[in-house]
Amino acid sequence: MVSNIVILTGAGISAESGIDTFRDGGGLWEQHRVEDVATPEAFARDPDLVHRFYDMRREAIQAKLPNPAHGALARLDAVWNGRLLIVTQNVDDLHERAGARRVLHMHGEHLKAWCTACDVRSPWREPLIDRPPCPVCQSRSLRPDIVWFGEMPYRMGEIYAALREADLFVSIGTSGAVYPAAGLVRDARELGIETLELNLEPSQGSQWFHAARHGPASELVPAWVEEVLAGAGNSGP
Ligand code: OAD
Repeated sequence: MVSNIVILTGAGISAESGIDTFRDGGGLWEQHRVEDVATPEAFARDPDLVHRFYDMRREAIQAKLPNPAHGALARLDAVWNGRLLIVTQNVDDLHERAGARRVLHMHGEHLKAWCTACDVRSPWREPLIDRPPCPVCQSRSLRPDIVWFGEMPYRMGEIYAALREADLFVSIGTSGAVYPAAGLVRDARELGIETLELNLEPSQGSQWFHAARHGPASELVPAWVEEVLAGAGNSGP
């Protein structure tokens, strides 16, 4: 019987909201080199380029809306009496805007700025290119609160603790290309947890899942949530 669920989401869950994924055809990493915009070295070398990239992305996501997949997870979050953690690699706020509360952003958030002088993360919606002062210490040392390549994802201890309590792990809309997120399915398997993939196509780690369903998240996720809430999830994924 399913009572505790860990859900991992990736860019695929926001694709139908009009937010580019990273690795699909025409995705962000085809348009920009990771080494130019998504590493600490890039930021040290050319902070204006990095700020411009994230300023554009921060502005763009604010005009997007949650889709039925975000809505379905928010509904599950609202009514599920067991433990539930939505671990997202996404840096948009569409889970929250759909109404989900139990959300953990392991790769940071577009709508926060991190002051490297006082180490405080503040809510942020505006551009950073003009080096605005930190609202806490006034230092002009704000950077996007995004986990770059070579940096440690956030709150891994909490993620592994939730996994140890879980009996179902569901991965939604992620290519399985970036670790440690991509390794969570194998961690779950080692813990004896049932695993399910919901993705447009088989991910790189698809073979690790007990079951996989392929199609658009806006269809697969609401259908799966209905099954879980109806008790069908009790017999496995
Ligand atoms: P990717 O772009 O690597 O993968 C997106 C996945 O979503 C692919 O497997 C697609 O097939 C799938 N997909 C696309 N449209 C979909 C839809 N409508 N419904 C369901 N699935 C769909 O994105 P992530 O796996 O999230 O990290 O990428 C992981 C990390 O790599 C990101 O968090 C980011 C990136 O570099 C950082 O920036 C630190």
